[in-house]
Amino acid sequence: MSVFPVRRNGKSMKICHILTITLITLLSGIVTFVFSGFEATANKRGPVNVPSRREFNINNITTTDSFPYPDSNYLNDNSYHEYVITQDNTFKHGYAEVKACARRFPEAIIIGIQKCGTTALAEFLGIHPQLAVKKEQTYFFSSNYSLGLDWYLHQMPCSHGNAITIERTPQYYYMKHVPGRISEMDRGMKLILIVCDPVQRTVSNFAMAKYRNREHINSRFEEEAFTFKNDHDIRVNENNLYVDKSRYAKYLQQWLDAFPRNQIHVVNGDAFSINPVQELRKIETFLNIDPYIKPFHFERTPVSGFYCLRSKSRRLRCLPRTKGRAHPVVKQEYLSKLKQYFAEQNELFFRLLRIEGFIW
Ligand SMILES: *[C@@H]1O[C@H](CO)[C@@H](O)[C@H](O)[C@H]1NC(C)=O
Ligand SMILES: *[C@@H]1O[C@H](CO)[C@@H](O)[C@H](O)[C@H]1NC(C)=O
Repeated sequence: MSVFPVRRNGKSMKICHILTITLITLLSGIVTFVFSGFEATANKRGPVNVPSRREFNINNITTTDSFPYPDSNYLNDNSYHEYVITQDNTFKHGYAEVKACARRFPEAIIIGIQKCGTTALAEFLGIHPQLAVKKEQTYFFSSNYSLGLDWYLHQMPCSHGNAITIERTPQYYYMKHVPGRISEMDRGMKLILIVCDPVQRTVSNFAMAKYRNREHINSRFEEEAFTFKNDHDIRVNENNLYVDKSRYAKYLQQWLDAFPRNQIHVVNGDAFSINPVQELRKIETFLNIDPYIKPFHFERTPVSGFYCLRSKSRRLRCLPRTKGRAHPVVKQEYLSKLKQYFAEQNELFFRLLRIEGFIW
């Protein structure tokens, strides 16, 4: 770390300003602000065009305008450098460190599957220092494509050093224009696909829709996912959206047509929810980054049964409660019908991807 003690002699208003604000943010210990005036680069990973540490004289900071916003590195569209002012333990001195960072196009995209844990996956990968994860969905290659690559780039988080940028929009998996668009931008794109038991996925998707769309509030899962001719003729409703979205093989070929198999990494979402570390390790290997994520980073909460992240300050960070939304209770006979219905699709899916070890 390159640190620059702030001289207390020859104080200017700016120093006072900086120290005051630094003190306000003692809790985090870090104030981030943006140095504007540089063009954002469309660079992929590689050396950023400035030294990663640069000495600057705290008297001549030209960015006091944007300074009062902690974590403001997303505010300025042209942000290119990030300056981090930290405080030493005695709080007698301010220290300034300059880190270069740049927005970059992603080198990996979590393309799906909805309701299989993409939120947790993005959240958990975010703790890796060699990854810069865009956690909110951009929908760029699907609905926001007309906004252009510049827009897309500016959605990306600032990434330090050699960090790889990742985005996550699970809707992509189902959209037929998306694979071609991604490949057109970057044929070497790495794709991460987290999959889970399609029966559970269908139920979970229904639960989410019921929660989000009020019109579904009184409908029952069985009524939506099945058609009833009579008591003896109960079939899976193929026209139901949530059923359709669980037919994974149906949407796979469009990806295999656009990308070589070795650029697609399949994450076992059921295993991931039981033991995230094991699946995260495989992703580290796939992305060619150092093994960093350890069991220490996770703690299972007794209430939801979900894993939470343990941050440096040892406080637990959990996913929002809606992620643990209760599923409707569905009778075993209906679940069995669904399981039977998906069996053929599943086999095809496994065969096309040459994967095994899945129990659905
Ligand atoms: C601030 O001053 C230092 C030393 O005079 C100089 O090297 C640096 O480029 C200046 N920084 C800015 C942002 O003007
Ligand atoms: C991007 O797409 C999403 C989903 O269609 C939409 O909600 C959002 O407003 C779009 N963003 C912009 C900037 O248009």
